[in-house]
Parts: sequence; C-alpha cells; structure tokens
Amino acid sequence: MRNFARFMAFVALFTTVVAPLCAQTAGERKLEVFSWWTSGGEAAALDALFKVYKKQNPGVEIINATVAGGAGFAARPVLQTRLAGGKPPDSWQTHPGRELLDQYVGNGYCEAITELYKNEGWDRVFPKELVVDLLTKDRNTYAVLVGIHRGNLLWYNTKLLEKNGIKVGNQLSFDQFFAACEKLKAAGIPALGVGDSGIWASAQLFENTLLGVIGPRGWTALFSGKMQWDDPRVKEAMKLFAKMQDYVNPDHSALSWDQAIKALTEGKVAFSSMGDWAYGEFVKANLKEKEDFGWVCHPYTDDSFVVIADSFTLARGAPHKQAALAWLKSIGSKEAQEAFNSIKGSIPPRTDVDRAKFDAYQQWSMDSFAEDDLVPSCVHGEAAPAAFEQALNDAVAKFVVDRNVDNFANALVRAAKESQSRK
Ligand code: GAL
Repeated sequence: MRNFARFMAFVALFTTVVAPLCAQTAGERKLEVFSWWTSGGEAAALDALFKVYKKQNPGVEIINATVAGGAGFAARPVLQTRLAGGKPPDSWQTHPGRELLDQYVGNGYCEAITELYKNEGWDRVFPKELVVDLLTKDRNTYAVLVGIHRGNLLWYNTKLLEKNGIKVGNQLSFDQFFAACEKLKAAGIPALGVGDSGIWASAQLFENTLLGVIGPRGWTALFSGKMQWDDPRVKEAMKLFAKMQDYVNPDHSALSWDQAIKALTEGKVAFSSMGDWAYGEFVKANLKEKEDFGWVCHPYTDDSFVVIADSFTLARGAPHKQAALAWLKSIGSKEAQEAFNSIKGSIPPRTDVDRAKFDAYQQWSMDSFAEDDLVPSCVHGEAAPAAFEQALNDAVAKFVVDRNVDNFANALVRAAKESQSRK
C-alpha cells in the first residue's frame, strides 16, 4: 500500500487458533476491556461498541477499564505494569505497527487470532495491506482494527475566523496560516489551541508540521534512517514549529487535547492541529460543520493521510477468553464498525460499510484514505519504536520552552541512533 508498503516490512500468511465464539456457553459472564477512551466523543464511541456486544452477548458484564489521558500517555504504563505482572485485561486498545508488534506481541503478551479472521471471512473485508503489514507477525494475526483516524488536520472555529476577517479555502499554506495567526494575535486571541498535558499534542503539532515540509517521501527516508534528524529540511520544520509557539494558548500544558478542542468551540482559540478524534468531540457537542467549525489539512499535507489506527488484542492468559473472542468478533462486525466510527470521527477499516451512514467529513476522509499517501504516525506508535516515541516527546517538551533547534535536532539524532542500534 503505497508509502506503507515501502515503510513496513512485515510478512503474512494465515494459520491457527481456536474459536467457539459464545461467551455464555463457556459460562463466562465478564469481559474486561482496557482503553484510554474517556473524552466525550471517545466514551460515546466505546459505548456504541459495548451496546452491539451486549446485544449479541446478553448477560456478560463489561468491565470498562479506562485510564484517562489522550493518546494513552497515562494508560500505557498502567497496562505495562499489569501485563508484566501477569494480570492482563482480556483485551486492550493498541495502535497497530510497532506498538502492537514490538511491545505486546514481541513480549509474548498477545494470543494470535488468525483463525477468527478465517472463520469470519475477514480476509475479504479488511484491507489486506493493513492486516498483513500492521497486525501480523510470523504469519499470525494479533488484533482487530476498529477505526482509522487521520492525524494531519487543522480544525477551526468558523465564526471566530469570520469575525476577524480570516478566510480559509480548501488549502492553507504556512504563510497564510501565520498571517491568520498575526491577525488573531493583534485581536488578543491565541490562534493555536493546544492541550499538551502529556506533551504528545505538541509532538503531534510538530509531526504534522514536519510532514508539511519533508512530504511523504521525506517521511519514509527519515524513519528508515536515510535522512537524518539534523537535515536542513527537518530543521526548517523545527523553526516553523518554534514560530507557532508564539501563537499558542498560554494554558496549553494544563489542558488535555479535548479541553483544547472545547476552547476552540467556545471561541477562546481559533485553530487546533489534531487528529480527527476531534471530529468526535464536535459530533458529541452537536456542532455543525461550516456553521460552527471547519477543517483544512495541516499546511502542505494535503496529499498525505497520517494513519492513526485503533485495534484491540486478545491477551495471552485472558481471564475470560471466550468472552474476549466474542468481543473481537463483535467489534469486527459491520454493525459495530458503522456505529462506532460515525461517533468517533474515524473511518471503518472494513471496506463493505454503508458510506451513506457517514457525514461529509468522514466521506472525504474515506476518499483521502483511498487516494493519498499513507504515512504512519510516530507520535501514535506506528512509525518508530516506543523508546524513540518517548525521546521525541521529551525533546518536544524541552523545545517548546527553549526553542533551541540544534539541541532539538541533536537529541533526535541520538535517539534515532540508539533505536537503530537496539534493532
Ligand atoms: C490516539 C487514538 C485515538 C484517540 C487519540 C486521543 O492515540 O488512536 O483513538 O483516542 O489517541 O486520545
């Protein structure tokens, strides 16, 4: 699959695992599902998955084990402790790619569900490239995809921009963006809403800006070690990211990502560069596209789709294995994927869903996914090992304070070398 295929070198063919998929016949009355979906839109979407499951498995009590904190920055350490301590939840949310395959499958925490794919005929309805490249190791498949988010979007408050005489067309250049920022600044409004408690939201702002400068080919080069983190183009992106700091809301480090989106809807900030889980917040708040909010691709990333996919695993030693298998079967169903994604803001990985059930934004996102270069996110665990993801977060946390481009670049050169040498 275009950029992904060049990037991810995972093999696949399908084999083993068990599956009499009825929790009740196995006498299991509980199911523990672990995630970090606690914002308004996230919780509502998770609940939609639970509703479909309960309809199919009446009598099974769901233990909704959530740990708040966007992108799982607080949830993943808690999960790690449970897994290392031999107390896994039955199923947990994870990003496919490096996060799933290195951290969880690689450490023996997951059980393969290859047979489920065979039994459900999922080889035909899930894009093979995603399943094979991102969910499969040594011919075994380890997770079910529920949704695919697009990471590189710039959301805005329509009325606030209008009031300040700012027009956003179908595309936005960095120059146009900064001109808008200046206008807003003169009016006393922080242009850019960031909620970076946990820092990842700032790292994502940088990720999107970096992609805008180096493009999808540069992205592949950078994450495969052909381009270095102190390359002049990377530094150019760092300078743009530094400039953006002049327009960020002063309370950014105290806010979560969804509080920053709320600030946007309340007209306290004008823009926010965020994945389309933000769309889930607009849906939840009953806001209308064009009237209340709008969106455009983050500058110069129009032909790229930064993929941030969500999937669920089966724990090795799951306390309620049959209930968990029934859960995975349920979330892979058309009914669950349609219900979940129309609320979450993501698009269904299944290719046989009814497009008419989705809003204009999501229909656009489906087209973008089909046509654009697919770029794996580093901030959300797909493009690089966890240690590099952490190093990026740490370097961003320093950079938003000192804005020292050389230090930022050097820290990432070192981190990239370390993760290369660990391979
Ligand atoms: C991502 C996840 C999304 C969304 C976001 C904010 O990592 O894939 O589903 O929840 O974090 O929490």
